[in-house]
Amino acid sequence: MKIFLDTANISEIKRAVDLGLIDGVTTNPSLLSKEGREPMAQLKEIIKLVSGPVNAEVVSPDAEDMVKEAGPLVKLGKNVVIKIPMCEQGLIAVKRLAEQGIKTNVTLVFSPAQALLAAKAGASYVSPFVGRIDDIAGNGMELVEQIVTIFDNYLFKTEIIVASIRHPVHFVQSAMIGAHIATVPFGVLEKLMKHPLTDKGIDAFNKDWEKLKNTLKK
Ligand code: G3P
Repeated sequence: MKIFLDTANISEIKRAVDLGLIDGVTTNPSLLSKEGREPMAQLKEIIKLVSGPVNAEVVSPDAEDMVKEAGPLVKLGKNVVIKIPMCEQGLIAVKRLAEQGIKTNVTLVFSPAQALLAAKAGASYVSPFVGRIDDIAGNGMELVEQIVTIFDNYLFKTEIIVASIRHPVHFVQSAMIGAHIATVPFGVLEKLMKHPLTDKGIDAFNKDWEKLKNTLKK
């Protein structure tokens, strides 16, 4: 499973790139707004740091303007993927961009039917938002399972990005189900590396090593 970082924060991206585990980055208008900087400048800097896909979202309400908005974004780098919100106009924009060879990620997917339509429109990626479904007492991972089955049934090439991941269980379940990509906030990435028994084990090994060294000195 590929791992994308779900952030527009430069220092988080730098740390994740240094780790060598990051295959791409997903941003959205809320994440860019959190950084408080001119979005094109922020995206330009992100693209310099990341060799894999960098997702940048359009905000126009109609297809024609979405396609226009994508123009300057794709010029930022070969690895730019245009994130398009799931809606009628969005699907039209996806089809037009696909015809021009531009990669798209249909975002805000909350049902298997939406994912199927996005794939048929020619989306390179779909993003089911698992955490937001769980927030309203639904089952986000069940949606991912349904999309995996549908895409397998019809051999769609569209990749599934599990988004709105809130904790390590979402990440592990994504891998168990066979999702192509999980996009994780930096805080979740940090949690994935940790286990209390690992910390306890390292501590015990270090203490025993010190004890041996002190014994040999005597
Ligand atoms: O990239 C979009 C998605 O991951 C949003 O997550 O936590 O705002 O539901 P969240």
